[in-house]
Amino acid sequence: MVPGATIRVCLRPVTAPTLAAPMPAPTLPAMQEFVLDDLAATRRLAQELAAAVQPGDLLLLDGPLGAGKTALVRFLVEALGGDPAQVASPTFTLLHQYAARLPVIHVDAYRLAGAGDLAGLGFDELSEGALGVIEWAERVACAFPAEVCWSVNLAHAGEDRRRVRLATPLRLRGKWLHVPDEG
Ligand SMILES: Nc1ncnc2c1ncn2[C@@H]1O[C@H](COP(=O)(O)OP(=O)(O)OP(=O)(O)O)[C@@H](O)[C@H]1O
Ligand SMILES: [Mg+2]
Repeated sequence: MVPGATIRVCLRPVTAPTLAAPMPAPTLPAMQEFVLDDLAATRRLAQELAAAVQPGDLLLLDGPLGAGKTALVRFLVEALGGDPAQVASPTFTLLHQYAARLPVIHVDAYRLAGAGDLAGLGFDELSEGALGVIEWAERVACAFPAEVCWSVNLAHAGEDRRRVRLATPLRLRGKWLHVPDEG
């Protein structure tokens, strides 16, 4: 710089670029919500899930005690051609395996301290090529890739009614399950 020269500072606001502003990316809803009026409706949801899941998918189930997480798993195993009578709440056994068209690996994370405990059960290896199902998944959820995760959140909505919030895996984002009213 030339000695003695002044530095001119422009205090005018910088004008907006003349280029057209980019269009905002279309936003897809990340979650669908519906009401299950009774157990039969929960069964229909399980049937739709059974038709849509793929080997390696993970079904993350959340909701309070008695919300119907295990009931949904029982219907799911049935819909996949397995024996629903084998499905018990894995609260004490922690991990169950059910033979079905797509084998199901069922874990209850209620008593797990975190993702390390889940790994300790051999969940990753066992659920490879199967359908992994985790009750109380929020306790270990940070461990899962969104590409393969179904998120199902059940809530009590009076007597046999349940409210469900469902998010499909990333690969299906924007496609929703249709649960028929009757069937
Ligand atoms: N629409 C419904 N969907 C699911 N379960 C229902 C429904 N209506 C009534 N129920 C009853 O609610 C109870 C749900 O119990 P379930 O063991 O499935 O809950 P859970 O969410 O797994 O609880 P936990 O956190 O203790 O494992 C069952 O007795 C089931 O028959
Ligand atoms: Mg349960």
